[in-house]
Amino acid sequence: MCYNNEGESIVFMHKVRRLAFGTDHTAIKIRDKVKNYLQKREYEIEDFGFYGSGSCDYPDFALKVAKAILTKRADRGILICGTGIGMSVAANKIKGVIAATCWDENTARLVAQHNAADIICLGSRTTTLNGICRRIEIFLESQFEERHSQRIKKIKEIEKIVQY
Ligand code: RB5
Repeated sequence: MCYNNEGESIVFMHKVRRLAFGTDHTAIKIRDKVKNYLQKREYEIEDFGFYGSGSCDYPDFALKVAKAILTKRADRGILICGTGIGMSVAANKIKGVIAATCWDENTARLVAQHNAADIICLGSRTTTLNGICRRIEIFLESQFEERHSQRIKKIKEIEKIVQY
């Protein structure tokens, strides 16, 4: 059993190592710098693109990263588009995955601790390179807290509803 700063028990999770990484055309200039930052910290990265020219459609990369989480090829995912919002909307359509856009270091920590997020989504147009790297690092180092598990169970129950 592990405990957080408040002395509450938290679920033990194996150390996050393998990352699924996906970006759209808005992140071309920062993509390699973010990857280098993470590789220096010994994370293994599977990069799903985008590596074409011109522009692309962010849902294609959200789907690939979400699949890597569901098939357990990756421990956590990182998605970057212009705002992080399109990527999170698309990834959250995939049953079994929780993706969250984070706008500061606090939300990067909380989506892991409270929301059990598998994937962090960030905005290349709304965040500095340094801000993106720091948020990813905080997200990867934060662990889910057991006291929130009832809420996550309810989210999983909602996923089972096919239609009204
Ligand atoms: C692409 O122009 C832009 O819409 C996309 O990167 C993202 O910000 C969508 O949420």
